Amino acid sequence: MNKTIEAALNQQINAELHSAYTYLAMSAHFAEKDFDGFSTWMRMQAQEELAHAMKLYDYVLERGGHVALETVAAPAKKLGTPLKIFETALAHEKKITGMIHDLYELARKNKDYATENQLNWFVTEQVEEEDSAGRAVEQLKRAGDNMSALLMLDQQFGARSSE
Ligand code: FEO
Repeated sequence: MNKTIEAALNQQINAELHSAYTYLAMSAHFAEKDFDGFSTWMRMQAQEELAHAMKLYDYVLERGGHVALETVAAPAKKLGTPLKIFETALAHEKKITGMIHDLYELARKNKDYATENQLNWFVTEQVEEEDSAGRAVEQLKRAGDNMSALLMLDQQFGARSSE
């Protein structure tokens, strides 16, 4: 496969692993603050990110390419309120969407139709990712500082099965 595309796919694998790491840190933070439902939501999100990385990993191998695993950057240490954390998650997803679109553009420019096709799944997935983080932000904004509303949301988010 084209070396520029291979490098870009490896970069995306790294970004997805970093996403998993980011959400895992958020999950641990929520668990430490006894927001068990938010913690479950973030833990499931981390698992999804790992699945995204593996989807690209398998694809690179399937195309006879080389998987180059690099250092995964540490997640942020200061996380803030539940609203701030979900706002960070939404901003993160928007950044990932931009990366996927750049990758898509690169595949198109290089007439790599197989990669373009593979990336279609990710384009659709990013719409869902932004939607679920965006809805969480709106719900948390509505709850504000009302602890009983926050606890209700915590319980609701804990019921997440998969998205
Ligand atoms: Fe793999 Fe949340 O984007």
